[in-house]
Amino acid sequence: MTTDTIQRQYNEVIASHYDLDPQSVTGDTLDRAAEQIRKQQILELAAAPLCVYDVGMGTGMFLARLIAMAGDQIQPFGLDLSQKMIDCAYRKIPHLAAAVDTAANLDAHFPEQTFDLISTHFISGFVPLSVLAPKVWSRLEEGGYWSYLGATKQAYPNLQAAANNRFLRWMFGRPKLDLDSSVQSPANRQEVFDILERNGFVVRQCETFQPKLHFRDIDEFLDFGYYGGWLTPFIEAVGLHRASAFTRFLLNRMFFPMDDHHCVEIHLAQKVAR
Ligand SMILES: C[S@@+](CC[C@H](N)C(=O)[O-])C[C@H]1O[C@@H](n2cnc3c(N)ncnc32)[C@H](O)[C@@H]1O
Repeated sequence: MTTDTIQRQYNEVIASHYDLDPQSVTGDTLDRAAEQIRKQQILELAAAPLCVYDVGMGTGMFLARLIAMAGDQIQPFGLDLSQKMIDCAYRKIPHLAAAVDTAANLDAHFPEQTFDLISTHFISGFVPLSVLAPKVWSRLEEGGYWSYLGATKQAYPNLQAAANNRFLRWMFGRPKLDLDSSVQSPANRQEVFDILERNGFVVRQCETFQPKLHFRDIDEFLDFGYYGGWLTPFIEAVGLHRASAFTRFLLNRMFFPMDDHHCVEIHLAQKVAR
């Protein structure tokens, strides 16, 4: 999946739906990341306003949470590939400083600034954790924090099984799903730990969050997976969002209602001297 395709999907399909947050996975996960920051007392112990850089900031949901917790003690910076997502963030946070670019260039922006806290939330499916880690390290103050969260390949076991269903693959003319070549996300918690520690971070808090998902029918699944952004590249690749009424009827009979769960690693790590 090219960066241009991802950028188009966020600008044209996802940005206008993102904050609806079907099934509340984004909101509930960001609440947990904010809770890790509260427990670590990062906001209370800061001597001056905390410079926070949210990379792959989306519509600014996380920065808005921090500002709700600490008001003007937060100086917000953001980066995102999608101008439309950034426009939504500006509506929440008018004094935000933001740039449009890939997270792979996170170290090239706001050159005069170092940060007390950098967040990268739900973007390690687009830019690998191993690419993000040294760049996050280079832009943090000594002792600064990285709030990392992202899905692992253990997410959506039932949807993965459905995608590998023989009849479905025949219907959509698709080969077997090969997660290792199609998804950049880490395999599991251990892989996240290893990459953070190898890059000079000490994990202070971590949680594996497995929120339940329930799809009554294909339309509810598309609200989540296509318009909500969770699986847009996969759905677009097979044209599921444009399926005929007959195909939807068949899918509803064969696969829905469906229960599943997400799998998200939520880590708060601190930069230590190498
Ligand atoms: C799933 S959303 C997460 C948004 C936000 N971090 C949150 O937790 O709500 C992914 C975001 O990453 C952005 N994105 C995708 N690929 C990117 C890339 N290569 N570099 C920077 N941002 C990217 C998208 O535009 C989108 O805003």
